[in-house]
Amino acid sequence: MSSCLHFWNTRVDCVTVVCFLSASVSEFLCTSSDLELSYTFCDSTAHTFMFNLTPCSMNKSVWKAALTWIPRSDITFLKIVFNVWYEGANALHWKEVLCSGSDDIYSVCGTLKGESFATVFDIKGSRIQFPKGNYNIILQSFSDDSDNNILMCLNFTMIVKQDAF
Ligand SMILES: *[C@@H]1O[C@H](CO)[C@@H](O)[C@H](O)[C@H]1NC(C)=O
Ligand SMILES: *[C@@H]1O[C@H](CO)[C@@H](O)[C@H](O)[C@H]1NC(C)=O
Repeated sequence: MSSCLHFWNTRVDCVTVVCFLSASVSEFLCTSSDLELSYTFCDSTAHTFMFNLTPCSMNKSVWKAALTWIPRSDITFLKIVFNVWYEGANALHWKEVLCSGSDDIYSVCGTLKGESFATVFDIKGSRIQFPKGNYNIILQSFSDDSDNNILMCLNFTMIVKQDAF
């Protein structure tokens, strides 16, 4: 079951999705002549999470992302694991510890359980080529280094409709 608010922003041609409950149903993020993006949560637990990406196009090498998240536990340790699957094969695997508990540089570090965290950041994709095809992007976050305590897992479906220029 899902309960999402969709805000259509015509100026930036993208959709902001605010989900208060998890969904096994796919949440539509954006579509254009060369790109289609949607996501689901991997699990069936309730999340408060909002993600917005502009522009909805592969023609750009820099995207603006905005996210709002109310974590279910305090963020002292945070590790992100990012996997890109292209036509069924693992194309990219990347992980990074964002918060270790001391000298943290990311603003998400120290967010308390139930507290709203919001940020805006750039995604630079110029070094990554995404040929035409279907992608699954799995983004997991863990509150420990041994990948036992999962905070959240997102399953993005990305369809690149034509090769970027
Ligand atoms: C992600 O979604 C795809 C279907 O779009 C599914 O086949 C796959 O198992 C999902 N992966 C995870 C980790 O939930
Ligand atoms: C991206 O560029 C291609 C080729 O110039 C064009 O056909 C397509 O419409 C562009 N996509 C967007 C969303 O502007």
